Amino acid sequence: MIIIKDPKELQKISLKLRSQGKTVALVPTMGYFHEGHLSLIDTVREKVDTVIVSLFVNPTQFAPGEDLDNYPHDLERDAKLACERGADILFAPEKSKMYYPDHSTWVEVPELAINLCGKSRPEHFRGVTTIVAKLFLTAQPHIAIFGEKDWQQLAIIKRMVRDLNMPVEVIGHPIVREASGLALSSRNVYLSNTEKELAPLIQKGLRNIKDMVDKGESEALTLTSELRSFYQKNIPGSRVDYIEIVDPDKINLLEKVSGPALCAVAIHLGKTRLIDNLLIKV
Ligand code: PAF
Repeated sequence: MIIIKDPKELQKISLKLRSQGKTVALVPTMGYFHEGHLSLIDTVREKVDTVIVSLFVNPTQFAPGEDLDNYPHDLERDAKLACERGADILFAPEKSKMYYPDHSTWVEVPELAINLCGKSRPEHFRGVTTIVAKLFLTAQPHIAIFGEKDWQQLAIIKRMVRDLNMPVEVIGHPIVREASGLALSSRNVYLSNTEKELAPLIQKGLRNIKDMVDKGESEALTLTSELRSFYQKNIPGSRVDYIEIVDPDKINLLEKVSGPALCAVAIHLGKTRLIDNLLIKV
């Protein structure tokens, strides 16, 4: 595996690979790899000739006061893990190589960013779509893979690719969880031992809601109120950012669960904000 820091160099290599008929996959990440990231590498490793993993903690998707400065980072550790899982190239640019001081071009999908994380983090998805568009233009992948834990991000990226005719196939990967049910996240390192014991109840609550839907409940308000009470009762000290039921593609709020529906939550546990989701009707 080689480590590349210069976007121009990566673009040159990728264009050359493509001209030789080789297929290329991109795994965009912000690093501090866990099994969730590594399973993304495993999945595309089987599909293409060259796997590029990007590691860039993208400043434009963090608002002031969020955890940009403390975001866990260990290039040496990540390089070793990516190499062991068969990545060919680790792209780890400096901020100055990805953004000019007078950067002024943005890619936005505002309609899908109204609810869920877009509501509490209004600038977030503009930063995500802009960096992902830049990564696509730099790495020139045939396919790119994203985890379904950030479901709204995945829906937004799919819409961006569709609307801008980007020649990239976007693949979603199911959430990877600990045996306890806690969705893997680089931010789990912030959790105290007590918080780590409580965090799996986030998924437990979502599963209860799916059971209610399976038994015939279809009122979104009844379902979200039930989940809110469950978290209040069972995860003391937690603070709900949102609990919403949305259309999985359009990310608009649903009043009734009749067709495909996603229940998505964001919960503050101590100083950590955790997100999770479950398709409650397919
Ligand atoms: O999901 C992430 O880690 C980031 O949002 C992404 C897609 C790498 C863009 O910075």
